[in-house]
Amino acid sequence: MSDTKPVGLGKGLTNYGDRDFSIYLRRSFASSMGYSREMLEKKIVGIAYTPSGFNNCHRHFPELLEAVKRGVLASGALPLEFPTISLGEVFQSPTSLKFRNLMSIDTEEMIRAQPMDAVVLMGGCDKTVPAQLMGAASADLPAIQLVGGPMMTSRYGEERLGACTDCRRYWASYRAGNISTEEINDLEGRLATTAGTCAVMGTASTMACIAEALGMSLPGTAAIPAVHADRLRAAEASGVAAVRLIENPIKPSQIITRDAVENALRVLLALGGSTNAIIHLTAVAGRLGIKIPLTWLNQLSDDTPVLVNLKPVGNHYMEDFFFAGGMGAVLRELKPKLNLDVMTVTGDTLGARLAAEESLPVDRSVIASADKPQDAVGGLVALFGSLAPQGAILKRSAADQTLFEKEGRAVVFSSLEDLAARIDDPGLDITEDDFMVLQNAGPKSQSGMPEAGYLPIPKKLSRRGVTDMVRISDARMSGTAFGTIVLHVTPEAAVAGPLALVRTGDRIKLSVKDRRIDLLVDEAQLTARRAALGQLLDNPATLRGYNKLYAEEVLQADEGCDFGFLQPVDNN
Ligand code: FES
Repeated sequence: MSDTKPVGLGKGLTNYGDRDFSIYLRRSFASSMGYSREMLEKKIVGIAYTPSGFNNCHRHFPELLEAVKRGVLASGALPLEFPTISLGEVFQSPTSLKFRNLMSIDTEEMIRAQPMDAVVLMGGCDKTVPAQLMGAASADLPAIQLVGGPMMTSRYGEERLGACTDCRRYWASYRAGNISTEEINDLEGRLATTAGTCAVMGTASTMACIAEALGMSLPGTAAIPAVHADRLRAAEASGVAAVRLIENPIKPSQIITRDAVENALRVLLALGGSTNAIIHLTAVAGRLGIKIPLTWLNQLSDDTPVLVNLKPVGNHYMEDFFFAGGMGAVLRELKPKLNLDVMTVTGDTLGARLAAEESLPVDRSVIASADKPQDAVGGLVALFGSLAPQGAILKRSAADQTLFEKEGRAVVFSSLEDLAARIDDPGLDITEDDFMVLQNAGPKSQSGMPEAGYLPIPKKLSRRGVTDMVRISDARMSGTAFGTIVLHVTPEAAVAGPLALVRTGDRIKLSVKDRRIDLLVDEAQLTARRAALGQLLDNPATLRGYNKLYAEEVLQADEGCDFGFLQPVDNN
């Protein structure tokens, strides 16, 4: 009766004060699910399973789950899926970021609490992959990330459509009065037409590529479309690889090293990837005690070319990226700059992977060579200065370069509600040369750092043909958006950062060349304004539940918006 080997169902026993009884009871209850004793003696691959009626991007997960299970069973282990919360980007209020840490806690604790020897993480939509990587990094059980893959594109007349860069493009066109209400309503049903994640290099696709760059996903799997048969084969292979990870244990802490994080940052820059990914990668790395100072991002950005021609920065979609060669092609172009000795979930180093892929074809219209890049420098830069002492982010690859060296008059919106109330007021005093400033949309604000940094161009200007302006906030921006948009200003307004002190009429100076964003107001005035600031934050004593935990614990954007208590103890 005694089972001395702590594997499979014998791991992490429920404590009844009698170990043999605990395993007896567990096997007895597991038998009620119809498993034979032989199956129950196998090692176990847990599968973190995240379908949800509120998550269109994970619609195909039941079919993917079957393929993962097939791979696990064929390799001699027992697959057992377990649910965690799922975050469908457009279904969460006030914003999905607020619940990323909750999902990471759920993932970590269910990996720890349940008897499994390795885990396959099934995620896809924006916050799910970072949440799963954060949880798996903290649990540090052998783990492999399987992403859901991107949606296919659709058609509208002669136009190709893909969520959600085209959603934003058409909405801006509608606001500018260039398309009718009938047309925008017709488009609504054509923008997202298959299972899978957004069809461009938005946050979900960027995080899928980062998971592969870190070595946490199987080679070549990041960009396979959700509905392609290769996606099912990738799921099956992930199940097989998870069993191999039991026989040859490699933990996330051996894969997500500082060198691997540097590779992931290079990939983020070469993709012209989502600004959200810098927050997520900082949070994932932070779980293993690896810090990502924004100065590191800038150093790498000056030395990493943009290689891919994908929306929202370029012309193509994720399915084109997959057929053009995908992540393997990008990694091979970056090879001289990458740390090749890093370990991956296959048990091979990145260098061994790339050596085996050298002769694969690449479509250069989608993935450029390093000697003829899309852009000589990386897609993201961090800005510092009196307005953002701890940094801010600009996606320069998606911005209008004519606005990069500019001084402007601030037009301030004190909150999202203020923005909504006044943005289209015909009497709003604003020109295209002004800098729009949004306050109180950072991580500790009531809005929870939504993707509101893509402030709409006021209708009175968009109807005159204005398509971009400098916009500054402590909010985030969707990975599918574009514009000269300064985000993640840190410290945020809600903790009395300098952003809280900006008033309409102030001058702000942006210099992308110097990596600076400065508020040109003298210190005496700022001191007086700071003294006049009222209570900015909710008193946590008036909150309860997750809102209270979040308000008390969320860190600023430069620390990944994680909860402080989730980072390693010796970090605190
Ligand atoms: Fe899920 Fe865009 S809404 S990835």
